[in-house]
Amino acid sequence: MNGSLAEKIMRRTAHVAVIGLGYVGLPLAVASARAGFHAIGVEVNPERVEAINAAHSYIEDVGDDTLRPLVEDGLLRATTDYDALRDADVVFICVPTPYTSQRTPDLKYVIQAAEGIAPRLHPQHLVVLQSTTYPGTTVEVVKPILERGSGLSAESDFYLAFSPERIDPGNRRWSAYNTPKVVGGLTAEATAVAAAFLRQMGAPVHEVSSPDAAELTKLLENTFRAVNIALVNEIALLAERMGIDFWEVIEAAKTKPFGFMPFYPGAGVGGHCIPIDPYYLLWKAREYDFYTHFIELAAETNEAMPYHVVELVRRGLGRAGKALKGAHILVLGVAFKADIGDARNSPALRVLELLVRDGAEVRYHDPYVPRYTIGGDVFVREPITLESAPLDEATLRWADAAVIVTGHRVVDYGHIVEHAAMVVDSCNATAACGKQDKIIRLGAPFPS
Ligand SMILES: NC(=O)c1ccc[n+]([C@@H]2O[C@H](COP(=O)([O-])OP(=O)(O)OC[C@H]3O[C@@H](n4cnc5c(N)ncnc54)[C@H](O)[C@@H]3O)[C@@H](O)[C@H]2O)c1
Repeated sequence: MNGSLAEKIMRRTAHVAVIGLGYVGLPLAVASARAGFHAIGVEVNPERVEAINAAHSYIEDVGDDTLRPLVEDGLLRATTDYDALRDADVVFICVPTPYTSQRTPDLKYVIQAAEGIAPRLHPQHLVVLQSTTYPGTTVEVVKPILERGSGLSAESDFYLAFSPERIDPGNRRWSAYNTPKVVGGLTAEATAVAAAFLRQMGAPVHEVSSPDAAELTKLLENTFRAVNIALVNEIALLAERMGIDFWEVIEAAKTKPFGFMPFYPGAGVGGHCIPIDPYYLLWKAREYDFYTHFIELAAETNEAMPYHVVELVRRGLGRAGKALKGAHILVLGVAFKADIGDARNSPALRVLELLVRDGAEVRYHDPYVPRYTIGGDVFVREPITLESAPLDEATLRWADAAVIVTGHRVVDYGHIVEHAAMVVDSCNATAACGKQDKIIRLGAPFPS
């Protein structure tokens, strides 16, 4: 491992820059600063920059009380200016990696970040890509941009590595400080330098032989989740048709101490990872004349779930002699998972859009998502921005049906069941309410 950068890392005098201060980048910048490094976030959104410099966090897992001392001690600051990278020794790229509406990888943010680094790159710089992406991105996309723009070689002048992020927003047990990190460098030295830095954060580090292996590790992990969620979704639909309560079945299966891991059915998959990452692998696989059937099948199953939820609503309304067209539907929980405010690619989006498309009047409530925009796509042409409705008796009385897409711990589902005419529960949030005719549970017998 090279002396001077390694030494700076060990002494924690290296300066760290994090490009993209979102769910991944902000906790990383904070962890670096808490480890004693000088950390700077380079972020295109000026409001986020202002917030961080005022020690105000916009990410649930990072508290203002954590930010404040770091900002006050000058260990953490943010800027929109890429020139800050000139003083950095270690640069992490934590920008989004979305897909297009046709589900192909959209690397524009990674490319922009690499183009921003390239003219500021200096010998001994360590660049680590953390954005989730297909195998080959670090070597085939990032490396040439950095080398062309800097005139330096990634083999001999600077260090380049990929280290996937495993952060699980809202998870109180596993954080940036104790979740093992995987890292693969372009060279053995790059792996060693990047691993040395990551070890300073406190978590164990597992080294792999290349950026490609590290990239595929992340996609394996997320594809594993997507496929298993699809499996339980499929069996939940079968159980529903057979008149068996699948939630009871999962609880029973969970008692097996080995060889079974519980996954839960629901209205679909959401967030920045599970609905997107497998498509990155599927897309790349085609370059090798390889068709990833499990990924395709899982996507098909998971993406069909919002349609099924809407079907349950339609069936429930039909039971009461009502049509979906013109019905008042209250969607509960638009965040993509419990207890957080991230609503990106949430299954609630498609549920709401399908309801609007079919003529329903919709409102939603989510304590963590004050505003939510749907539409602007092939399902609902014009974008519609909705505001979270108060969860009071008037709202519940307004609704012909309340549809629980995501259950949050702070929401009182007993109160909802008490006052709503009908509840379609896609995540078993009403488990404590027992069997009631007005509750239609996904994956459970349809109430008579
Ligand atoms: N959110 C998660 O739970 C999670 C977990 C593991 C991995 N990841 C991956 O990490 C990456 C980042 O995800 P995220 O959830 O943090 O995204 P995010 O949208 O929360 O944050 C990304 C930030 O990057 C900024 N940005 C965009 N382009 C930029 C540029 N060119 N220069 C500087 N800043 C720029 C955005 O303004 C935003 O603040 C993605 O590849 C994602 O798949 C996310």
